[in-house]
Amino acid sequence: MERARWTSRTIFLFAAIGSAVGLGNVWRFPYLAGRYGGGAFLVPYLIMLVILGVPLLILEFAIGQKMQLGATGSFGRIKHKLSSIGFGAILCGFGVCSYYAVVMAWCLLYLIFSFSLKWGVDTEGFFLNQILHLSPQSLDMGQVVTPILFSLVVVWMAVYFSIWKGIKSVSKVVTVTMPLPIILLVVLAIRGVTLPGSLEGIVHYLKPNFSALLDLEVWHAAASQIFFTLSIAFGIMIAYASYKHERSDIAKSAIITSIVNSAISIVAGFVVFATLGYMAKQEGVQVSNYISQISGPSLTFIVFPKILSLIPFASAFSVLFFVMLFTLAIDSAFSLVEAVCTVVSDKYPHLRRQDVSMYVCVTGFVAGMIFTTYAGLYYLDVADHYITHYGLLFVGLLEAIAIGWLYGVEELRLYINSVSEIRIGRWWNVLIKYIIPVILMVLLAYTFIKDINTPYGGYPQKILWIYGWGILVVIGLISYLLAHFSAPKR
Ligand code: TRP
Repeated sequence: MERARWTSRTIFLFAAIGSAVGLGNVWRFPYLAGRYGGGAFLVPYLIMLVILGVPLLILEFAIGQKMQLGATGSFGRIKHKLSSIGFGAILCGFGVCSYYAVVMAWCLLYLIFSFSLKWGVDTEGFFLNQILHLSPQSLDMGQVVTPILFSLVVVWMAVYFSIWKGIKSVSKVVTVTMPLPIILLVVLAIRGVTLPGSLEGIVHYLKPNFSALLDLEVWHAAASQIFFTLSIAFGIMIAYASYKHERSDIAKSAIITSIVNSAISIVAGFVVFATLGYMAKQEGVQVSNYISQISGPSLTFIVFPKILSLIPFASAFSVLFFVMLFTLAIDSAFSLVEAVCTVVSDKYPHLRRQDVSMYVCVTGFVAGMIFTTYAGLYYLDVADHYITHYGLLFVGLLEAIAIGWLYGVEELRLYINSVSEIRIGRWWNVLIKYIIPVILMVLLAYTFIKDINTPYGGYPQKILWIYGWGILVVIGLISYLLAHFSAPKR
């Protein structure tokens, strides 16, 4: 059977950028920048982008396009056992997707609340108690929160209909879901920087604190952000590239994707800090007061609703904000489902695409139900920490080793140069073979030691061992077994 194809190169770029640009750009990046040295965070971020991000994105595009297969098939072609790298990638991605969809479900609820600004004055109490029913300090799941569960069903239906016919549907959907949120983000940025007090916030965002650069933790945060934001080590970019023609450009597409993605993160930083500056002015406090509060979900669901209700036309801007978040996130979510479907369809080409997509979406929904319980936010936090801090970097490490030491970097580089509009030099070989593996090993060892000494997030060690490490061990074991027992593809 003919392999499905992107309708044009632009559409491929739309899809790749759509996957890269997501919640990671709007809440994860600004929060990291605020926490790790303001403008100085841009230094490790950009260095990691150049040293890790771009070379690995080129690698993923190249291998998918060359092998014309998804993540497991591509690595399996090199050596059958290496298909476990692909399984590891899609399982990590699947883990991320299962909680990412829950965050999207919150977005959807907040979109509805926007019409009446239902969160009121106490946005924190509203989010934690009325929406999440968060159990204080206890990891007791209690029960499932019904509105979130319903919202999650809607999210997965939206994801399903975006990809149900594979690349054909994706090609159509991304023409809307890639540009729309970017336009909305720009509107919000203009609104943000024209608010009184915004300058204060922006200064806080850009003013560098260079002493942060001496802390290895900052570098680790930058590296895992690069993996997360570029959708590297999820098998996504490999799957997307496998639907390109074998002789289409690689290097330039990777560079465009990386630049657009980081530019959007930086703009999102302006939106967040400009509006924080405004809120600080309204409440007569320093911007730095908020920094500890803006981590992760609280930024989007506690601080933003509060700010949004302060500005004129509150309801309209709230709707805009949550539509932006939702459309921003959806192409990241379905890119992962597409990565899993690609792997399944490569292996079982006779299965109908609609059915494969359905199985994957239903499994994703079921896997995410734990995050809709009373303790959902805690489990989400732990899953996110272990997958993004260990899983991704580890898969990235294996990818670099597989290509650098087993497949042959030079061979892949020659292929890339034979099709690309931009040539890449031998520096790429050195990065893939030596520098990237060394950096990743150092960072992995560093976090490991830190996590052993101080339990992440102050959760009980027992839970972290069972649940956090448990996820990683299960992913590793399943990947190994699937590669071990599946028959090599001829
Ligand atoms: N790149 C996305 C972002 O920045 C995150 C992401 C990567 C993701 N892989 C994913 C989300 C898989 C869901 C599923 O937000």
